[in-house]
Amino acid sequence: MTEPERSPTALVIVGGSVAAIKSPGLLRRLREAGYVTDVIATRAALAFVTPLSLATAAGRVVATDETWFGARPDAQHLSLARAGVNVIVAASADLLARAAHGFAGDLASATLLSVTGPVLWVPAMNAAMWRHPAVQANVQMLKSWGHTFLGPEVGAFGTLGEGSGLGRMAEPEEIVAAVLGLVSPPLPTGDLTGLKVVVSAGPTREYLDPVRFISNPSSGKMGFAVAEAARDRGADVVLVSGPVNLPDPPGMRTVRIGTALELRSEVLDAAQDADIVVMTAAVADYRAADQAVEKQAKVAGDVQIHLTPNPDILAELGQHKGERVLIGFAMETHAGVERAASKATRKNADFILLNYPTQAGTAFGGDDNQVTLVRPGGESDAWPRMSKREVGERILDEALRIRAERAGVSPGLT
Ligand code: CTP
Repeated sequence: MTEPERSPTALVIVGGSVAAIKSPGLLRRLREAGYVTDVIATRAALAFVTPLSLATAAGRVVATDETWFGARPDAQHLSLARAGVNVIVAASADLLARAAHGFAGDLASATLLSVTGPVLWVPAMNAAMWRHPAVQANVQMLKSWGHTFLGPEVGAFGTLGEGSGLGRMAEPEEIVAAVLGLVSPPLPTGDLTGLKVVVSAGPTREYLDPVRFISNPSSGKMGFAVAEAARDRGADVVLVSGPVNLPDPPGMRTVRIGTALELRSEVLDAAQDADIVVMTAAVADYRAADQAVEKQAKVAGDVQIHLTPNPDILAELGQHKGERVLIGFAMETHAGVERAASKATRKNADFILLNYPTQAGTAFGGDDNQVTLVRPGGESDAWPRMSKREVGERILDEALRIRAERAGVSPGLT
């Protein structure tokens, strides 16, 4: 099933510095950039900016220590922590210290202990405070956890008369640019720029009843590696993945599916305008002929399961191949090259990567693979054992070579 497209979410935490007055402007700009925003104001922040101006800019009620300790039945710090990106503005020395030392006695600190998305700190404080070893040690601690810092900058600091110097908070436009950079780094360009690559990955699950299914141990690592390699070479990538233990890679569209029928519908849809399709998915060949709606209780003695074949997605793609380069995988335990060549012919694939599940170090779930490239005519090339990422790169090299060959030019001139 396809997840409906959702707006990206941003949590803005406002700290207790005079620069807090810039936070409504930031919230407005984030919303203009398409973000759904939530806002937490610390107790100190509310001395500089009113809840009403924050709420008006955020389009949401402001979360504060009062709303946290109030009569709410939910754990507000956990729901707020689910934002796609977290920005702490007017970040004071006190807030940095609490976050760096795992304090959880106020809503902002407790939420920061629970966030999963990237964290951007935008500090604002007096230059002497910022330079103090205690503050710098806290900053280093947070950086070591992957948090990012923007500023403080050199310039007139606030309106409190401290004069000029380090300490001014970055402007809202710069903060929005930093947020966008954190969430979607600039698209790379390379030899696949302008091409669309569709990759299927992982296993499928064929349910017998609501709680039991037939599947296989595919980790999805091979497909994710191909997709990431294609992304880094500039391709527009769609990754269609069965249930695997890997997060959505940034910089591509990832579609999660369960069954072979769902995989088929998503891949065929994405492949319509694709240039290269790589089917690494370990598709279950069969599904239950009659999937039980209710959980099946055990019975005495043997049971029989009636299975019906799933459609062959690669073969279907092969029937309407057009200009696409079509690549499959095959796992064989015997007569590998011969069987893979006949699969490539039957499914009209340009080539198939053959691997052996029994081979040491290249079995399901590993980081390496040792594959043999097999063409429909039976011509084969055994590649040495290498990382799945390197296998991915070589698959894409070969796909580009085939495209260039078809176009009648050498790969360097395409
Ligand atoms: N494949 C597919 N749809 C299926 C089964 C497989 O698209 N229903 C794809 C796989 O993603 C892989 C290739 O076809 O790229 C080879 O899969 P494999 O299961 O080895 O092929 P089968 O034709 O099912 O052969 P076998 O009889 O050996 O299982």
